[in-house]
Amino acid sequence: MLTSIGLQAAWLTQLFRAQQVQVKRDLEEVVRNAARKNDYLSIMHGRERSENFRNFFISPQWLLFKQSFMSMRGMGIGMAKFSSDLDKDSAYIDISLRIANQKPSTSKNTKRITHTLDKGQTLASALAADRRDLMRMDSLVKVECLQNGLGVKTNYVLYNYDTGKPKEINAWKAAQQADYRSELYAYNLNFFFHNYQLVVPSIDGLVLYRMRYYLISSFFMLLLTGVAFIFLFRVLRSQRLYTQVRLAFSGNMTHELKTPVAVIEAALDAITRYQLARDPAKLDNYIDISKAQLNRLNQMIDKVLNLEALDNGEILLRPELFDVQEGLENVVTSMRLRNNETMATISYTPSEMPCFVNGDPVHLTNVFYNLVDNAIKYSGAQAKINITCTCNETHVQISFEDNGPGIAKIHRERIFERFFRVPNQADIHNVKGSGLGLHYVKQVIEKHHGQIAVKSEIGKGSNFIISLPAYHEA
Ligand SMILES: Nc1ncnc2c1ncn2[C@@H]1O[C@H](COP(=O)(O)OP(=O)(O)OP(=O)(O)O)[C@@H](O)[C@H]1O
Ligand SMILES: [Mg+2]
Repeated sequence: MLTSIGLQAAWLTQLFRAQQVQVKRDLEEVVRNAARKNDYLSIMHGRERSENFRNFFISPQWLLFKQSFMSMRGMGIGMAKFSSDLDKDSAYIDISLRIANQKPSTSKNTKRITHTLDKGQTLASALAADRRDLMRMDSLVKVECLQNGLGVKTNYVLYNYDTGKPKEINAWKAAQQADYRSELYAYNLNFFFHNYQLVVPSIDGLVLYRMRYYLISSFFMLLLTGVAFIFLFRVLRSQRLYTQVRLAFSGNMTHELKTPVAVIEAALDAITRYQLARDPAKLDNYIDISKAQLNRLNQMIDKVLNLEALDNGEILLRPELFDVQEGLENVVTSMRLRNNETMATISYTPSEMPCFVNGDPVHLTNVFYNLVDNAIKYSGAQAKINITCTCNETHVQISFEDNGPGIAKIHRERIFERFFRVPNQADIHNVKGSGLGLHYVKQVIEKHHGQIAVKSEIGKGSNFIISLPAYHEA
């Protein structure tokens, strides 16, 4: 799990860096496009009819040409003047390059080269025109950004064309912290006053936005891994519990099966050793004991086989019109007989209406028997059991309530699992059982399209409620 989180994180960081580079490249492209367009727009007036003239200034090659002079600025080279003319069949352009005699010095006293201005132009009017071009450049950059899906906040810094010094030192200082600064671009071909630099304070938001699908998918990957991990963990845990429970079952069953065998063995042994054939009364007694034990053994085997078959879907229910109240009465009567030596009381409240279901009498009787048996078994000597049957048009409801130890919430769902027995249940150390009873009950009820619920609290008894669909004439 940790490895997969680590790998994802490493991969995403890698991707983040790659995207950062890509975003910077895209931003540079935006400024380049804006600079080319702006070059053309600054000199287009009166030359609109020449398609080639336009194509030349819009071309990347032109920008490359222009920028190569820019890069030589350190050697005292720069564009000084640009003019163009259009006659009938061609356009002519004149570019003056200025090559300083000496390398520009950084000292402030260096004599500045004055710009060549057109006729009738003052420095003030030229600066105003330059300012207009700057505004156009900046808005072109913004438009290009939007068109290329680069929704970021942008600024710019201006540099003196000749000296390369920033025009506003504060803006320049702020720009040093920014995530991205473009190359410098002159933004018109009329005056060479300033260079433009695009500044984007933060590109992280944009980078993350571009990575959104990767982020979402890796989030889901992690989620899936997590879910798979939890699932696996649960399966392993329940496997372990199952093994424990199974072991307990084997122990229990061995004991349950061995007791009758041992008793029968002892009885037969006594019969032969004391030659009881001569004492028919004693012989009968021993034979009765053996029969009872064999019966118990048989029941036990039936229980296991029955459940196995039920789980494998091999048992087919034989539904018929079954009178629930009659079934309950039979179970209650036989349980009262069986427990007449104990103090346990079983009270039964029948419904006033007849309650019929479409069910298998054998299995449903087994269900009632199991629930009453549990109630008596786990409630001890003072057991008080209330069985109530109610019914309406659609459902028959039977409730088995006892005053036993109750079942803690964490065990309540699990008591219906195969082999499960509540561990260390208060006050009942010696109650024997295989943990199959309730599992069988649930299976049978569900096969009848019914439901079983349990309400119970520690120390306050338990209440098992069965609900079955009422019988309807087909
Ligand atoms: N009425 C009850 N009061 C308290 N605990 C109960 C009650 N009924 C069942 N239990 C708990 O649920 C567990 C599972 O019951 P279940 O009937 O499936 O098995 P069992 O009684 O142990 O064995 P078996 O019924 O197969 O002989 C029991 O071991 C017991 O801990
Ligand atoms: Mg039981």
